[in-house]
Amino acid sequence: MERYFLQLLQNYNKKSLRKSLAAHLGDANRFVDFSLSSGQLLLDYSRTSMDRQTLSSLLEMAKKSAVCVERDRLFRGDRVNFTEQRPALHMALRSDQVLGNLAADTVERIRQSRDNMRTHARAFAQGHLPEEQAERVRHIIHIGIGGSVLGPRLLIDALGRNESPSVHFLSSVDAHKRVDLLARLDPAETIVVVVSKSFKTGETLLHAQRTLQWLEVSLGREQALRRIFAVSGNQQAVDTFGVPRANTFYLPDWVGGRYSIWSAVSLSAAAVMGEDAFQQLLDGALEMDRHFQTAEIDRNLPVLMALTGIWHRNFCGYPSQAIIPYDHRLRSLPAYLQQLVMESNGKSVDSSGQLTGYDTTPVLFGEAGTDAQHSLFQMFHQGTDVVPLSFIGVICPDHEDDEAHAVLLANMLAQATALATGTGGLASPEPADIHRQMTGERPSEIILMDKLSPHTLGQLLALYEHKVFVESVVWNINPFDQYGVELGKVLADTIQPALQDSEHCVPEGYGLNAILEYIQKKGR
Ligand code: F6P
Repeated sequence: MERYFLQLLQNYNKKSLRKSLAAHLGDANRFVDFSLSSGQLLLDYSRTSMDRQTLSSLLEMAKKSAVCVERDRLFRGDRVNFTEQRPALHMALRSDQVLGNLAADTVERIRQSRDNMRTHARAFAQGHLPEEQAERVRHIIHIGIGGSVLGPRLLIDALGRNESPSVHFLSSVDAHKRVDLLARLDPAETIVVVVSKSFKTGETLLHAQRTLQWLEVSLGREQALRRIFAVSGNQQAVDTFGVPRANTFYLPDWVGGRYSIWSAVSLSAAAVMGEDAFQQLLDGALEMDRHFQTAEIDRNLPVLMALTGIWHRNFCGYPSQAIIPYDHRLRSLPAYLQQLVMESNGKSVDSSGQLTGYDTTPVLFGEAGTDAQHSLFQMFHQGTDVVPLSFIGVICPDHEDDEAHAVLLANMLAQATALATGTGGLASPEPADIHRQMTGERPSEIILMDKLSPHTLGQLLALYEHKVFVESVVWNINPFDQYGVELGKVLADTIQPALQDSEHCVPEGYGLNAILEYIQKKGR
């Protein structure tokens, strides 16, 4: 199916379809033709070099790449995760209709898990264990990594409203944070939520063991186990670890880690944002699912966003992309999207087992504005690489300082304009000094949310999920596996003994023995 994609790429190489970006902005219809809204989200992709002909070629390519057919297979529960032979049905966590495609016992299990999550989130929000009002909960230690932490962290930063319980995240295996944290907390007021789909992830299990020991030392084994919870798809490993079944939440294998924000993985976040707000998040995502499923391809937000990404990556050859949310509450969004995008589409082998021969996902990175303006933007304006930007703004803030908000949005729009037009395109004369000149012609898209609410955040995250899916269809790769992260984990297990025992060497082929010797000399 990527034949059409390749054909278009080749044609593009022969005959440039690119037109000056700044020139596009002079077109009075540009915004109307190159923007689209759905629900409370707007995508403005007018500051790109795509023209009408380019766009229609890309849309044709999307049609011929069977984007709609693949989308329907995704929602139907076909085994779109073809390397692991399973469906990718995270949408079932927000849609009873999609859930209905599954076996009755699975449906029952998911519903129970959802109800259970609500009951627990409510009790934790009220400051106690479920049905045990005397057992206080003021702190939640959430242990997990990758998709088992990035979603809940984003939700709490964006939508957390309750002061208590406070949630503390332990992810990287680095013990500094854990040691500091446990020294400050009272085990009798703390619960531990261990989130791991596999329940095999080294970092998570190490933190979980140490934290359980900490509970046990103060409270004894029985009380400690009442304060530890697990969210996992590996019941056997959870049993072996010792978490009681009543404290365990089920995570099905057809929900990938980076798509698990909609599940009990977000238990601690639901306690902080409120169970109703969590439901609104799911409803917002469901609204985007329906849009993706029903909107015409040329009025379909995930499709248009994906085509913009493909245009920049494959046709313009830009190696990276920056996500710049102009809202402090969305400061964790770049990290969340990094995993979603790069772990999903960081692949170079296609569905037939051949090397793709074309580029797939760009490097994604970002930071909230205007902080980013004072660190990243110099390179964006004058660096040798062009970095397409995604600006994400919120029209109505949740504070009363209208002036500050106007300054914030003005900065976002100013940056988008300056990147597009450069110094030459502005009314004032181009500076004579070449060091002060900016070439412009640097593309960006703007995503505007009417407000930041659970509903709009749900829409936004589902938009990105589907955008990643559409890109994967055009690139003919599997966005739902992540074998690339395995090798490093295996090697770490073989290297660790050499760090703790100077008699232990690693194979010569690692090229590590000299640096290991250095570390051993310097270490305690
Ligand atoms: O980084 C690899 C990965 O498997 C991610 O996909 C996942 O989100 C993370 O590790 C954590 O995995 P688990 O939830 O199984 O501990």
